[in-house]
Amino acid sequence: MTPEELQRIAEAERARQQAFRYRVKVCEGAGCLSRGVTALKAVFQTVARSQPAIEVTGAGCMGPCSEGPLVRIEPDGALYRCRSARDVHDIALTHLREDRPATHLALDPAGPFFAAQQPVVLASCGRIDPERIEEAIAAGAYRALLRAVTEMTPAQVIEQVRQSGLRGRGGAGYPTGLKWATVAKAPGERKYVVCNADEGDPGAFMDRTVLEGDPHRVLEGMAIGAYAVGASQGYVYVRGEYPLAIRRLQIAIRQAEALRLLGARIADSGFSFRVDLRIGAGAYVCGEETALLASIEGRRGQPRPRPPYPAESGLWGAPTLINNVETFAAIPAIVARGGAWYAAMGTERSRGTKVFSLAGTVRRTGVVEVPMGMPLRRIVEEIGGGPPPGRTVKAVQTGGPGGGCVPAALLDVPVDYEALTALGSMMGSGGMIVLDDRTCLVDVTRYFMRFCMDESCGKCIPCRAGTVQLYDLLTRIAEGQGTPEDLDRLEALADLVRHASLCGLGQNAPNPLLATLRHFRDEYLAHVVEHRCPAGVCPMQPAAEVRP
Ligand SMILES: Cc1cc2nc3c(=O)[nH]c(=O)nc-3n(C[C@H](O)[C@H](O)[C@H](O)COP(=O)(O)O)c2cc1C
Ligand code: SF4
Repeated sequence: MTPEELQRIAEAERARQQAFRYRVKVCEGAGCLSRGVTALKAVFQTVARSQPAIEVTGAGCMGPCSEGPLVRIEPDGALYRCRSARDVHDIALTHLREDRPATHLALDPAGPFFAAQQPVVLASCGRIDPERIEEAIAAGAYRALLRAVTEMTPAQVIEQVRQSGLRGRGGAGYPTGLKWATVAKAPGERKYVVCNADEGDPGAFMDRTVLEGDPHRVLEGMAIGAYAVGASQGYVYVRGEYPLAIRRLQIAIRQAEALRLLGARIADSGFSFRVDLRIGAGAYVCGEETALLASIEGRRGQPRPRPPYPAESGLWGAPTLINNVETFAAIPAIVARGGAWYAAMGTERSRGTKVFSLAGTVRRTGVVEVPMGMPLRRIVEEIGGGPPPGRTVKAVQTGGPGGGCVPAALLDVPVDYEALTALGSMMGSGGMIVLDDRTCLVDVTRYFMRFCMDESCGKCIPCRAGTVQLYDLLTRIAEGQGTPEDLDRLEALADLVRHASLCGLGQNAPNPLLATLRHFRDEYLAHVVEHRCPAGVCPMQPAAEVRP
């Protein structure tokens, strides 16, 4: 496939699309599917049978999941809530037949949910049918790959990634250009590229959204990475709990291979790249890079000490480039538009945009992409619409089980790696859970500690035994049997687990605890001094049963 042939496919697809007066895109993201969108799509298809100028296809997530099921009508770009067969008929009668908007069902594409966003990674998500490569190509897919392969040297590609300032979106925020340069430099004939699609943080669904909505963007980013570092084999390690993402990746790989955008001698060059899927079996720790590599090799998914880092010694001892889904998905736009373009967005040390999944007690939940540095308050109050009526925000949990809680009073913090860390929280992979005034922070902390305890792989004692001890202490406090001394015990043990654990799971497990002790100490004190749960959540024992 040459760039000219790719261009011809894009033009043919655009011409095909223009033959339709309307194209109805039905959101088939996991959220809308769970709300019965398949039946509604069938009703649209029945309508379309009597109106041949209308095409009905699926699309990935359109963003505001809580408003779903959603449909988009192209070429107008109108977005509708569509919750019943009656809504389908309203949209069909007004928009499709009478060419006027079905105002009562419309979402404003310039409204607060969308206005503050800057889609780069999500640019095509919800706009293309993820199961048709021609639509992705018409939207620009694989142009950057072919350009890289035909016009750029690997070093030039890496230089653009370095200039972009992109940092890994999987959690640790390591500079992507630096990682690519290390793998490129590492000696070895055989190298690998691995996409980490294990996404195990509770409340996080960004990677799933990208994989389901625009799998070609991820594959293209991986292929560009492979070209840059000199690899010819790639793996996507995707969690088994994401069957739709797996299916769409399988379809996308097959289609890209059929057009020779993946496989042997891409763009008639000497560069070949093959991608295979590996399905995870649901262990959170398998998202940790060394455990993930062990799992791909067919061994038990347990972390090992680093160094050596995968960049030097990864899969079967060969240099391996491992990046997160969103990291790879940012690459095509960086190569197409230049590293400087990407670096112009965001803050000094956190460049570009970041995808967040917004969940919890907030009016509009879903997936959003904003420039780094946007105040957390804007994301929660403007994009998310704030808490439901009668409720107030108490805190926002960011960064998953290794993250922390930002209290409502500090919501003006800009979302960048350093600012969140300074508050004792973390960007992590981008999960955000809004907690309202009915939440008990001791209870939430206990939940995350339980998660880490259950998911600890058991290889090292500080994590294996420490998370159990921390969980037991938190349980005692939540049951009204804690003492003020328990808070000191918690802190001392948290410090030990943090510093003595082998991998990020144990090292970060105490973070939610330390963050809530810092920002919500009065809640802990109410539990251990007054044996009272201010939010009324914890199952406190009657005072008589409290230990002396
Ligand atoms: C317990 C644990 C779980 C992790 N889970 C994920 C994950 O699901 N997805 C991911 O991309 N990175 C995850 N990471 C981070 C990876 O180890 C690694 O840093 C990342 O894949 C590198 O890609 P990036 O540089 O693009 O962020 C996890 C780390 C730890 C310690
Ligand atoms: S820190 Fe926990 S998850 Fe990581 S290796 Fe040790 S026991 Fe396993």
